[in-house]
Amino acid sequence: MKILIATEKPFAANAVNKIKQLIDEAGYETALLEKYTDKQQLLDAVKDANAIIIRSDIIDAEVIAAAPNLKIVVRAGAGYDNVDLSTATANNIIVMNTPGQNSNAVAELALGMMVYAARNFYDGSSGTELLGKKLGIHAYGNVGRNVARIAKGFGMEIYAYDAFCPQEVIEKDGVTALPSAEALYATCQYVSLHIPATAETKNSINLALLERLPAKATLINTARKEVIDEVGLEQFMEARPDFKYLTDITPGNDASLKEKFPKRYFSTPKKMGAQTAEANNNAGIAAANQIIDFFKTGNCKFQVNH
Ligand code: 3PG
Repeated sequence: MKILIATEKPFAANAVNKIKQLIDEAGYETALLEKYTDKQQLLDAVKDANAIIIRSDIIDAEVIAAAPNLKIVVRAGAGYDNVDLSTATANNIIVMNTPGQNSNAVAELALGMMVYAARNFYDGSSGTELLGKKLGIHAYGNVGRNVARIAKGFGMEIYAYDAFCPQEVIEKDGVTALPSAEALYATCQYVSLHIPATAETKNSINLALLERLPAKATLINTARKEVIDEVGLEQFMEARPDFKYLTDITPGNDASLKEKFPKRYFSTPKKMGAQTAEANNNAGIAAANQIIDFFKTGNCKFQVNH
């Protein structure tokens, strides 16, 4: 069995070594494709792979067609919008994710971005504090829960809206559950996005929703680029000079936002939320173990395509 680690954005070297060791101990072979710059490199690498470990790497119909021996793809992370699930299913390929394994890393970055915004991007001017401010967590999954846990330490007043998570699950964490995204945006000065990119959520953070935000609001996006209506966001930034937007996912209009709003807009040069030694270890090792377990016992616990 050949297990390919295909990561355009590599795991920490130590995590790669541990993954290799696990695969080796299971009696399988590892192939490594890191920092590739051309899709053809991925198409060549998947030719003889039985399993692939990926991050945000795109596994589309072309990649699947180039991988005749592929049985399983594990996304070492949470979101699997980068995998063509229906083509995988049609080709009897199992797709899994590793939920929760990198969520603390993403949550720490979200809070770090809030501090960075509150302190005016560390420009030397007098800023504000997070203590006592209202934080809205948009989607209460693994990352949202970690954001709530950390934000409590900052003494923030915490609210959440999640279309699927029951109110009692949210409230047992001491977080106030709100009935809609509209209510969350109308209530909170800080909003942290943790929704996946799906047909329903794409472009859902639009001008009408942003207009509900109170004065001096900050939106933090460590989720996905696609959930933002970029035209609406730019209009809102023009209309509301008190609003800040910080994102870990470079938007299509990054250059324009940087030029127009240098003191209110920040984007990381590369998605960094899950880029810690700990998260790389957790997610990478979980992915390797899930593949090994699938080959040895057929365990499909974390399958996301059905
Ligand atoms: C995830 O969905 O797990 C995060 O967005 C992290 O993505 P990455 O592995 O590409 O950094």
